[in-house]
Amino acid sequence: MVHHFDTVIVGSGGAGLYAALEASERSRTAVLSKLYPVRSHTGAAQGGISAALGNVEEDKPEWHAYDTVKGGDYLVDQQAAKILTEEAVQAVYDLENRGLPFNRTPEGRIDQRRFGGHTRNFGEGPVRRACYAADRTGHMILQTLYQQCIKNQVAFFDEFQVVDLIMDGSTCGGVVAVELATGDLHVFGAKAVLFATGGFGRMFKITSNAFANTGDGPAVCARRGIPLMDMEFFQFHPTGILGLGILISEAVRGEGGILRNRDGERFMERYSPTLLDLAPRDIVSRSILTEVRAGKGIRGDRKIDDYVHLDATHLGRETLAAKLPDITSFCKTYLGVDPAEAPIPVLPTAHYAMGGIPTDVHGRVIMDRRGTIVDGLYAAGECACVSVHGANRLGTNSLLDLVVFGRRAGQHIGDYVKQADALPLSKDAPEAAREWIRRLTDGRSGPHGGHIMEEMQTAMMEKVGIYRNAGEMQQAVDAVKDLLARYLAVRVQDRGKQFNTDLLDTIELKSLLDLSLVTAASALNREESRGAHSREDFPDRDDDQWLKHTLAYLEGDDVRIDYKAVDTSIWEPKPRTY
Ligand code: FUM
Repeated sequence: MVHHFDTVIVGSGGAGLYAALEASERSRTAVLSKLYPVRSHTGAAQGGISAALGNVEEDKPEWHAYDTVKGGDYLVDQQAAKILTEEAVQAVYDLENRGLPFNRTPEGRIDQRRFGGHTRNFGEGPVRRACYAADRTGHMILQTLYQQCIKNQVAFFDEFQVVDLIMDGSTCGGVVAVELATGDLHVFGAKAVLFATGGFGRMFKITSNAFANTGDGPAVCARRGIPLMDMEFFQFHPTGILGLGILISEAVRGEGGILRNRDGERFMERYSPTLLDLAPRDIVSRSILTEVRAGKGIRGDRKIDDYVHLDATHLGRETLAAKLPDITSFCKTYLGVDPAEAPIPVLPTAHYAMGGIPTDVHGRVIMDRRGTIVDGLYAAGECACVSVHGANRLGTNSLLDLVVFGRRAGQHIGDYVKQADALPLSKDAPEAAREWIRRLTDGRSGPHGGHIMEEMQTAMMEKVGIYRNAGEMQQAVDAVKDLLARYLAVRVQDRGKQFNTDLLDTIELKSLLDLSLVTAASALNREESRGAHSREDFPDRDDDQWLKHTLAYLEGDDVRIDYKAVDTSIWEPKPRTY
């Protein structure tokens, strides 16, 4: 089946919906999602969205931009960070005007709380910058934007899995997708395609990411020759639920929660004397692991899965109920712990990809170090790399990124499609996807993808985790290449067409394998420590050699590396201290 739209948005999280909302003002717009839209992972973003509103204490977008650049260990493109933080204020008020139920101060203004790495006056101390709706901020953003998209008559294709991108030279002409309900292939011709498929934390064994976070957008682009930028930078959030990785929001520490080791010591006093538990996430995660390695984890056995305590007992039941109700319920459900009475067992969890599909500040995808634009192709949100997070994202800047840059991309698309011609669609457009699915479902016996998935997740967790070294990363690259070779023999065991989740899993597995390879190879290549990329064999940041973005091209099961300059036009890179 063939469909024609001006604009096709792939992914229905905050970035996709905001882009759809803007694009649909001026173009016929479709949103494809492999989920039902309000189940998108934006809904799991808990703690808040940052904006220097200054509602509860003095704040300025310039301070916010500085924190973002410093938090990203100076790999942030600084003009993009300036846009992010200046447009943040209006973006939050727009969400409020569209109906988002933020928590309020006693005077009725949007309330704000502390989050890691957000400071007043260029690092003097923590500032209250995160606007929030209890610990359901992302959920509220999704609901708000979805309702607005319905009002704008956006066409939703729910439970459609995108499997290929239609390209003619350096122009994009649409996508190919599988309809999960029927197993049918659909071709969507469009003048503009925007990928907003979110993250890919499922490449790791312990992650805060939903099962759906398999990076299909970046993987589809990479297979069509688009580079992926800064993939070596993957954030581990310090506080995942022990053994499960489910997120315990940084808002717990924003409200005053304290990390403690087995001696009850507030160990962050030793690692970050100014910001303490609200240091940026790369620093807090490394500090937890350092405590564990020193035998100061709660069990004290120095093993990688030992943990620390997040103590929120002093916050009181009333604060927990008003400001952290979901967290309270997660702790009771998954751990049998009431956070009002006992500390929460936590350990770092794979949370957020700083890298992704490279774009300019209008969301246009770029394909090389010169910034050459791919006509008609856009990306926004976690799957994209603008780059406003550099080597380490600050908490609450992700919701902000997807709102600001989702909106900018949607606005640019609205202009672009007015003057662009649709590419003629070749009859062969779906053939590569059809052939792939035919092979996976050809009835021959072959291994199931589940084992490959488990081996990939273990290799990535153990060898491309918080602390890295060349030997282990080389082992990860070799392991993933071996798994990619084994993938060729994988066959789907469910022969049905309707809601064939076995087929869906196997398609998603290929996305994760491709992205794991790019991540591990990019990490092995970068011989320095910066932000979330922390190498035991190269412990220092090396601006002379490595103040540059990585552009990684997937070529079969090899990765070719190139580089792109970092915009440091506002602040000179300095050593990071907190
Ligand atoms: O901790 C949190 O609530 C997560 C927020 C984020 O990743 O920005």
